Amino acid sequence: MEIITKMKFYFKVFLAAALMINVACKRDPSQPGREYMPNMYRVASYKTYEPNPNFKDSLGARPIVKGTIPRGYFAYDASNTPEAYEASLQVKEFPERFKLISEKDFEEGKRQYTIYCVVCHGEKGDGNGVLVEKGKFAGVPSYASDSRPGLTPMSIYHVITHGKGVMGAHAAQVLPIDRWKVVHYVQYLRNELDNKN
Ligand code: HEC
Repeated sequence: MEIITKMKFYFKVFLAAALMINVACKRDPSQPGREYMPNMYRVASYKTYEPNPNFKDSLGARPIVKGTIPRGYFAYDASNTPEAYEASLQVKEFPERFKLISEKDFEEGKRQYTIYCVVCHGEKGDGNGVLVEKGKFAGVPSYASDSRPGLTPMSIYHVITHGKGVMGAHAAQVLPIDRWKVVHYVQYLRNELDNKN
């Protein structure tokens, strides 16, 4: 009796195993066969480049929303007009994010100033750059307060972006985020000049 119960049990185990093997083995290797919990390994979400019927253009990878600004970036959309320049003169403070900069960023500002500005504005910012000394360029002002009293961080930023008078725009040379570093350096030179007077 005992042995028969045991055999029955083993037979049941064998049947269950055979059944499982039967459903688990794929007959057609290109088909997944029967899947018990497909969501565990087959995600329900759309893949990045998969067509997505929820959108009219069916693009799964959505284009970025107009006006999106990358993190850490600075967007300055004031246009190159006298009004926008005047408005920049009214903003007396740095934007909060750029108020304090690291020594490394200050050095970077100095580096870019030396590349892009020094030929006209001079190492000290007194308006005696090489081009001025050689008589190739005239009318470059000193950054000192008595020469240009109203300068603000924002107006300096505006002038780097759009230029002013015969000074060309430097938007193509200096990245928006780096312009603040250059502005800090210009302000440093301005303080140095003011303190010497
Ligand atoms: C080719 C020569 C030249 C170069 C290069 C140049 N500038 Fe100027 N910059 C000028 C001249 C000329 C003016 C005077 C413009 C005016 O007021 O009409 C000026 C004016 C300025 C002013 C005063 C603007 C104001 O509001 O009165 C600032 C600030 C300034 N430049 C910053 C810079 C910085 C920063 C750079 C480098 C990114 C730079 N400049 C590159 C020629 C130059």
